[in-house]
Amino acid sequence: MSNFLEIKKKIRSFNKEINVSGDKSLSIRWVLLASQATGKSKAYNLLMSEDVLAAMDAIKKLGIKVNIHKNYCEIFGNGINGFKYKKNLTINAKNSGTLGRLLLGLLIKSPQEIRLIGDRSLSKRDFSRVTLPLQKFGAKFNYKIEGKLPLSILGSQSAKGIKYLENKGSAQCKSSIMLAALNSSGTTLIKAKKSRDHSELLFKYLKIPIRIKKTKKYDFIDIKQPEKIKSFNYQIPGDISSSAFFMVLTTLSKNSSLLIKNVNINPSRTGVIIILKKMGAKIFLKNQKSYRGEKIADILIKSSNNLKAINCPSKLNSSAIDEFLIIFLVAAKAKGISHFKDMSELNQKESPRLNWGSQILNMMGIKTRLTKNSIKIYGKPNLEITKPIIIKNYLKDHRIFMMSTIAALTCGGQWKIHDKDSINTSFPSFLKIVKKIDNRAL
Ligand code: S3P
Repeated sequence: MSNFLEIKKKIRSFNKEINVSGDKSLSIRWVLLASQATGKSKAYNLLMSEDVLAAMDAIKKLGIKVNIHKNYCEIFGNGINGFKYKKNLTINAKNSGTLGRLLLGLLIKSPQEIRLIGDRSLSKRDFSRVTLPLQKFGAKFNYKIEGKLPLSILGSQSAKGIKYLENKGSAQCKSSIMLAALNSSGTTLIKAKKSRDHSELLFKYLKIPIRIKKTKKYDFIDIKQPEKIKSFNYQIPGDISSSAFFMVLTTLSKNSSLLIKNVNINPSRTGVIIILKKMGAKIFLKNQKSYRGEKIADILIKSSNNLKAINCPSKLNSSAIDEFLIIFLVAAKAKGISHFKDMSELNQKESPRLNWGSQILNMMGIKTRLTKNSIKIYGKPNLEITKPIIIKNYLKDHRIFMMSTIAALTCGGQWKIHDKDSINTSFPSFLKIVKKIDNRAL
């Protein structure tokens, strides 16, 4: 089968209901925490994407039994620091920054060197942001290129709690240190700029000794090593980051509406809804409920024909960090000039997304003004794409593929989007859902 997608027409009006697949952040965290629990844990609606399969492969190599069934997945945890493995072990985190960075936190006591590798995209990303604080626990790292994969980690048996300041608003960094705290004596004290808090909610649910004090900008987190983590079952809700593509598809389509069922709307993840609503999108939360500290709702979206530009407050950046590409697309169709600031973290993702977002909009005929950490987008509500557009060589960044697909389906023009298999990283059913919405769309 060809590994590119050609789109030559816009999607037709629709009125549909969909489910998106399980949340990626929660799926990876469940796998890693279940590996540290004692006994059998089960997850339902676990995301079966390459990032999560890589997490399961990683813990399997570390001696943990994993069973994948049709409707659920089982992990037989071996307790805290209970990994068992042979010499010369190599673990492949593939495309997943979350897996690579969080896993290192669980390896700070590893008695033998473990090599961590990743794909081309992950090998370009910064790992010093976790290896530097993990060294303070006593772990030792070796790299060919400072702070980059491939690297190897050798743990320390006398790992002790540390004090750590997380200043980028990175949940991966915060969570890596939180997982390291499980393996260290004493208390770990974290001061972290606001970022998604799934790890904190899971620690609380699992009764791991954690204290959290929230201030406006920072969270202060204290963690003590637990004696044991009880095995636990978890029903993973839908991923808001996957839903975001369909929120925008509906917002930009004519006379359409869409209900996305059972989505995680954790307030540390809902920046996309706040930003799109400020721009004039019609998004409504229905059926809100709580599940183990997480919030869940059905999301109803209706077309909007009155979108306006936004001067996006930087304080929303972390809660929409994975959604900016698709938000930029809305800015391209909004009236006025949108401005997004303090965006340097966006260039630290699977590809340099700030640069790519700008480039794709330019190909579509949208003017942008790009700096190292900001972008201005000159919206064109009546945009008509005239030139053919080819999207390739983008480090197989799944979100670039999906943003381009939504752009093609809503703005028209003739598109050829390469590396279709990139969606397997986070959302393998993405194109199936597009077809469910309009069976003649692709
Ligand atoms: C994630 C945190 C974010 C996000 C990534 C998933 C997580 O990364 O971009 O897709 O699950 O903790 P950063 O921590 O680098 O911001």
